[in-house]
Amino acid sequence: MQRTTEQFKKLIRRWTDRDNRWLSVPCTIAALFVLLVIVKSCQGIVYYNSDECKVYRLGYPIEDARKIVSVLSKAETDTFIAHDEHDTIAIPLLSERYFIADNFNRYLAYHKKDTTGAPLTNIVALVNIGADQDRESSAVPCDTSKGQLMLVNGRHYLDENYKPDSLATFSMDYCYEHQKAQRVVVDAFMALQEACKQQTDAQLMVNSAYRSYQDQIGTYKRNPKGYAARAGSSEHQTGFAIDVTSRQHPMRWPFDTSEEGIWMREHCHEYGFILRYPKRQSQIFGFAYEPWHLRYVGKEVAKRVHDEDITFDEYYAYYLDKR
Ligand code: DAL
Ligand code: ZN
Repeated sequence: MQRTTEQFKKLIRRWTDRDNRWLSVPCTIAALFVLLVIVKSCQGIVYYNSDECKVYRLGYPIEDARKIVSVLSKAETDTFIAHDEHDTIAIPLLSERYFIADNFNRYLAYHKKDTTGAPLTNIVALVNIGADQDRESSAVPCDTSKGQLMLVNGRHYLDENYKPDSLATFSMDYCYEHQKAQRVVVDAFMALQEACKQQTDAQLMVNSAYRSYQDQIGTYKRNPKGYAARAGSSEHQTGFAIDVTSRQHPMRWPFDTSEEGIWMREHCHEYGFILRYPKRQSQIFGFAYEPWHLRYVGKEVAKRVHDEDITFDEYYAYYLDKR
């Protein structure tokens, strides 16, 4: 009897062991499956809350959502998502030549307010130079440490005490009354006028060069609206700007269409100058066109501004100020 009992117990043990062995496989699979479901669910929740998915949920194709998130900073992405709407210019904006990621939401806002149907390129240019912001409240001191590349305009102003460290004098052969400018400007003008004389027979003349803050107060009062900057906003105060006409065409507008006026526009970059207020700028930005006002920025930058057909304000925003 005892033997029978032992054998029975043994049989049960073997049966149970075998059963466990068979049971362990489905149990492991089920456990792994549950784990997988938990992991996938967590991943799903994380992805649902990711910026890419939030942009996608605004109605952008997934590739575009990915692009937006990869190009914009976290702060710009957050602001963009907070707008909570699909914008048709969002993707085309990313391909604009002078697109600055930090300005993304300002481009969208400016485009929305614009009633003129301005092309995206102009929207980008205008926002980059700060035309979307209130001039008074967004004005900042000019960064004079940039030397010949300092930007002076209505939004970047010079202190009334600012004066170049040293100024050189133009020979009276090239001006009607004493004029001064930075040494590099005087030298560059000499090379410019020499080349102009050889190629057009005309003699370029400096009408006005360095003007102090106090001088500019008078210039602003005397000139028609739009043709003189307020004191502190004129680059004549830097000593890097000169107003040029010719002995043959001393009046500014006849100079514009004269042979030497056209030559100067086309070649001044070879001597380190740019035409600071070109026609294109006046059309886009609404500033007065000044065919006589040259600004010295050095040959390399002048060439780039000329070749890319941009203004110095745009150059500065994109190449020097872009964070
Ligand atoms: N004419 C330019 C704008 C100036 O006054 O600086
Ligand atoms: Zn000028």
